[in-house]
Amino acid sequence: MESNKPKYGIDAPGVIRNLILIGAAICCIVIFFPLVKIGSVSIDTRGLIWSGGGCVFGGVLMLAYSLYGKFKHRDRMLNYIAWKGGEQVLDVGTGKGLLMIGAAKRLTTGKSIGIDIWNEEDLSGNNIQNALANAEIEGVSNKVEIKNENVMDMSFADDTFDVILTNMCIHNIYNIEGRKTACKEIGRVLKTGGTAVVSDWRHVKEYNRNFRELGFQTQLLPARYLTTFPAITTVIVKK
Ligand SMILES: C[S@@+](CC[C@H](N)C(=O)[O-])C[C@H]1O[C@@H](n2cnc3c(N)ncnc32)[C@H](O)[C@@H]1O
Repeated sequence: MESNKPKYGIDAPGVIRNLILIGAAICCIVIFFPLVKIGSVSIDTRGLIWSGGGCVFGGVLMLAYSLYGKFKHRDRMLNYIAWKGGEQVLDVGTGKGLLMIGAAKRLTTGKSIGIDIWNEEDLSGNNIQNALANAEIEGVSNKVEIKNENVMDMSFADDTFDVILTNMCIHNIYNIEGRKTACKEIGRVLKTGGTAVVSDWRHVKEYNRNFRELGFQTQLLPARYLTTFPAITTVIVKK
């Protein structure tokens, strides 16, 4: 039987798998071969237990974020907005629709649009069909729309959205100029008077600088170490 629970996926599944496998392999070496003799040289592997344990622990914390923490973080991001119900919302890098659907649930007449380029390595089961299926299960299909678009080159007109949300997306652009372009595009399609909530685990100070250089008001919030791993920082941007 098909599950009728939404599935929002595991972030960076390959990284989690590698951390746990490498960590477990190191721990096995320490347990089964605490002293390795190569010729006349004897190597004590026991000091490696911290590296092995650290890798496994990191992988488990990343998994915990995907299974529990990201829902708390989604609600925190959505709570930064004083919702009226009629907002036009954009979720940049929506993946399986976590924030797009969360925002849609707070709308009455408004619309929540998700864009993505569907990188498979960034999220398990990352595709448009799974995002649409989650919207259906959550009962918000009539309030959402999903588009295949890159944040660096969006098709929307200037000043389209009252609210823009983005979580764990922009760091996937590996060059500084590309991330600057992404911030510029977010600023361009945000309405005057609108708010963008930009969350990520790295480069957030850089995004903050980019938005300030573009003339927006920003508030950089502290990293959340208890519910997110790697710890996520948020910048609130007002146009
Ligand atoms: C780690 S997932 C996070 C998904 C979702 N925001 C969440 O919090 O569950 C990052 C998402 O950003 C998308 N992405 C990466 N680079 C992008 C780009 N240049 N434009 C749009 N989406 C992008 C990936 O395809 C992926 O779906």
